[in-house]
Amino acid sequence: MSIPAAPTRSEVRSRTVIGGIGVSVPETSISNDELVASYNAWVEKENAARTMRGEAAVRESSSEFIVNASGIRNRHVYEREGILDPERMAPRIPGRTDEELSVLAEFGLGAAKRALSDGGLDAKQLDLIICSNSHPQRPYPALAIEIQQALGAGGAAFDMGLGCSSALAALHVAANLVRSGAHQRILVVVPELVTSHLDFRDRQTHFIFGDAAVAFLVEGLGEREERAGRFEIIGTSLWTQFSSNIRTNFGHLSRLAQDDPSVLHMEGNLIKQVGNKVFKEVTVAGHQFIVDFLAGYDHTPATMRRFWLHQANARMNAMILKLAFGEEVGADRAPTVLDRLGNTAAAGAIIALEENHRDMKSGEYGLLCAFGAGYSIGGALLRMM
Ligand code: COA
Repeated sequence: MSIPAAPTRSEVRSRTVIGGIGVSVPETSISNDELVASYNAWVEKENAARTMRGEAAVRESSSEFIVNASGIRNRHVYEREGILDPERMAPRIPGRTDEELSVLAEFGLGAAKRALSDGGLDAKQLDLIICSNSHPQRPYPALAIEIQQALGAGGAAFDMGLGCSSALAALHVAANLVRSGAHQRILVVVPELVTSHLDFRDRQTHFIFGDAAVAFLVEGLGEREERAGRFEIIGTSLWTQFSSNIRTNFGHLSRLAQDDPSVLHMEGNLIKQVGNKVFKEVTVAGHQFIVDFLAGYDHTPATMRRFWLHQANARMNAMILKLAFGEEVGADRAPTVLDRLGNTAAAGAIIALEENHRDMKSGEYGLLCAFGAGYSIGGALLRMM
């Protein structure tokens, strides 16, 4: 075992870059109409049972509502089978033995390999892997260590998370670890398999999420010569404030709150949110965060060529930018991927970045900004090199 020596002053990298990005989106998808048809088939059956019990009926979902309220038309899913079955309404993902690669490690690995290939790096050149997501596979062993082993990477690895701000939180940590000289080349992996945690019987949230994995490299500038077309990370920041308006109680303690602790009932322990409160509160906090964060670097929203915002709700993003600019901001300036992919939690803003940066000119700035559970907001000011 070799333990890296403490960095010397000359090794400290004051400038950092995103050296490569990888995105992995499952091929299978579900349209609003398909999702709503299965939900409403369940509603019909459920209401027949509720009527018999003298309970209040649940209301149907509608594709029209979903598009108008969120902008989402479609979502890609890791496993379609089971989600659309009104008898099940959850993806059917077979269990794996402890000897097999776990589902989330495999999902993250696809994006990780793409990021390494995009960045022209070999896994052996990494000295840290951070796995950061909203829906971890397990408390331990860290998924990042499993990915480290599967890639054949050296160094160290650990997991972290901050809801939908997980990728930005990891970018904040990685950029500062490289800046301090503690690490030289970090791979951040963000596997978001949200449909596994979603309650497809909850009218408020059943349409929101999709699955996707992303990964990116954070390196010191000067590590390698060729940097044109990459982003320098000018600054990063995080904001958090406690709220239960987006919450999951899934975890080992949930099992103890019921009579039979040998069975974990999912009822009440999956993702839930008070969407309209989140919408209002995070819109206000998000716009203020953007203005304040950019001001800290003598920038304003007007000096940003592009915004890669969290992909939860198209109306919400439009409102955040309108508050920041005082006018509507078009799709070229603030691209959207949520219409095709749904809300892919912490992966969404990185997918928007990956798909929408190749036309940017050297010296142009962009803002990566994600927000969500916590509440949390993460931002990164990027400059095209
Ligand atoms: N189908 C049809 N109607 C629905 C519905 C559905 N699936 N879900 C809710 N409605 C109805 C409600 O019942 C309500 O009608 P009512 O007043 O007659 O009861 C109406 O639509 C408005 O409900 P509301 O919850 O206020 O909707 P909204 O306009 O706030 O949109 C979200 C809901 C979830 C799309 C939106 O609040 C949102 O995206 N919030 C932010 C989420 C977010 O950013 N999360 C971050 C974590 S990643």
